Amino acid sequence: SRERDLAGRHVVISAGGTREPLDPVRFLGNRSSGRQGYALARTAVARGARVTLVAANTALPDPAGADVVRVGTAAQLREAVRGAAADADVVVMAAAVADFRPAHYAQGKIKKREGRDPEPIALVRNPDILAELSSVRSRPGQVVVGFAAETDDVLANGRAKLARKGCDLLVVNEVGEDRTFGSEENEAVVLGADGSETPVPRGPKEDLADTVWDRVVRILDKE
Ligand code: C5P
Repeated sequence: SRERDLAGRHVVISAGGTREPLDPVRFLGNRSSGRQGYALARTAVARGARVTLVAANTALPDPAGADVVRVGTAAQLREAVRGAAADADVVVMAAAVADFRPAHYAQGKIKKREGRDPEPIALVRNPDILAELSSVRSRPGQVVVGFAAETDDVLANGRAKLARKGCDLLVVNEVGEDRTFGSEENEAVVLGADGSETPVPRGPKEDLADTVWDRVVRILDKE
């Protein structure tokens, strides 16, 4: 039974999308709404977990019973997740984290220069938080879960990404302009480092969340 099968567990979930500032009024961002991460938080609370939700730029009401930490940038999300992960049984990285950030932050609003081409935006790489969490494991037996949005070769790319990042589970879904981001529904495959493949048919984000927790509980119970 799913009832309270996460009781006594601390789970950390990141949700939403990071924003990397260019100047005081502009940022590089993405279309993540945070809905899948919030569904993970709600279902984990329902299954008895202590939940820390690290929310990046979401416009959703706090899930009842979860500790919510609000962040803006990838650097802030990394600090918040790593701090909370220290005593966590499970970390789920559902947030869309910017792979790159502007190399320079302008203290004043960037001006357009009349009659001249715009200055290119130089980018630098952000640390891969999921890969870091997977390689360090702040607790023995800690379960680390990632998400991957792919536009093509979903399964092959998902398998390669799971191996590269070193996480226990990777939830892959196909995205496109009119799919998944911001919608109430999701359709995905949960890939396991043990070679398992659990398809989740199109449905509410809670259904996918519950399937993720089913897989997590199975790994935790093998400890
Ligand atoms: O490599 P890609 O961005 O597709 O990987 C997605 C997964 O990696 C998500 O779980 C996301 O939260 C995580 N990620 C991360 N740090 C980054 C980029 C992505 O933890 N800098």
